[in-house]
Amino acid sequence: MKQQVRPVPLSGPYLDAREEELVVDVLRPGRLSLGPTIDRFEEAFAEQVGAPYAAAVSSGTAGLHLLCVSAGIAPGDEVITSPYSFAASANCFIYEGGVPVFADIDARTLNLDPAAVEAAVTPRTKAIVAVDIYGYPCELDPLRAIAAKHGLAFIQDSCEALGAEYNGARLGSHGPSAVFAFYPNKQITTGEGGMVTTHSEEEWRLLRSLRNQGRGDSGGWLEHVRLGFNYRIDDVRAALGIGQLEKLDHILALRDEVAKRYGELLGAIDGVELPCADDAEHRRSWFVYVVLLPDNATRERVIAHFEREGIGYNRYLPSIHLQPYMRERYGFAEGLCPVSEDVSSRSLALPFFTGLEREAQERVAEALAAAL
Ligand SMILES: Cc1ncc(COP(=O)(O)O)c(C=O)c1O
Repeated sequence: MKQQVRPVPLSGPYLDAREEELVVDVLRPGRLSLGPTIDRFEEAFAEQVGAPYAAAVSSGTAGLHLLCVSAGIAPGDEVITSPYSFAASANCFIYEGGVPVFADIDARTLNLDPAAVEAAVTPRTKAIVAVDIYGYPCELDPLRAIAAKHGLAFIQDSCEALGAEYNGARLGSHGPSAVFAFYPNKQITTGEGGMVTTHSEEEWRLLRSLRNQGRGDSGGWLEHVRLGFNYRIDDVRAALGIGQLEKLDHILALRDEVAKRYGELLGAIDGVELPCADDAEHRRSWFVYVVLLPDNATRERVIAHFEREGIGYNRYLPSIHLQPYMRERYGFAEGLCPVSEDVSSRSLALPFFTGLEREAQERVAEALAAAL
């Protein structure tokens, strides 16, 4: 009889009895929204990343949108961002009428190339949305300097980078407002959810109002002082988040181990380019494990092999400017950001999650080597 192969999923959450306990602690008394668990989650998060203020929201996308509102992005304003990211990095300002301007990425880090950002600035530029792709910190100081020089707002999309460090300090602690996300493939999860960190008490108060239908600090339930949204997280998810944060350092260490093992298993396979290494300024927090293959045809060959072997994968990440709605609305086409387009055509995410076991990683490595 043929032996059934055990599938290796692409990703998965890392939860234990502690989250169950904390969720039950919220369910029993029944304060499910706008309760004290949210404040506790925010305080714990701010402390973990070294930010003075944190505001929890319903998703990373919601957090990015609120920072675009806070930055005053208005119809016709140009906003520079990375084409090699998740669509929300650009959608967040398009909601406010902002016009996307994609600057190309650096081929090694896959993050925005500061020289390309500088070249993309025009008199209509209002902001930069910098992404820490795959948990690798962006060129924070050079990008901030460009923003300061031209009087631009600077928003950091750290949705994939909780725990990553720039110049020895965690993202969120450096000053620019940053957004983190908690979908189940992230370092920590609340199911759905996000967090905005800010160093401005005024912005923090604004974010809390905007996420809560524009209600004011002192006004009543039916008083709305500004145009707001329902971007609230609820107490059940906040409880999950507290449990996850309690073991953040352990989670990050386990993910480092998984990444290190992949490095050892895949390093010797011809035709596989590994994610860039840390250096003095950048310390990655492992989000996904994305390798570069020689070309698209090879990637498809590997994918066919993975399918047969029950191994999870994804074609991370398509370039945002080539998404159908982007082409249609703005007329973007191939050739706009050659580095991003090249990487998009041959990058592949391998199974990666907290606690992924060596044996499964060996199977991935064998399948990859066999397909190549
Ligand atoms: C870079 C980046 N930005 C924004 C988001 C949006 O986060 P969410 O899915 O929580 O809205 C994600 C999530 O995948 C992301 O990876």
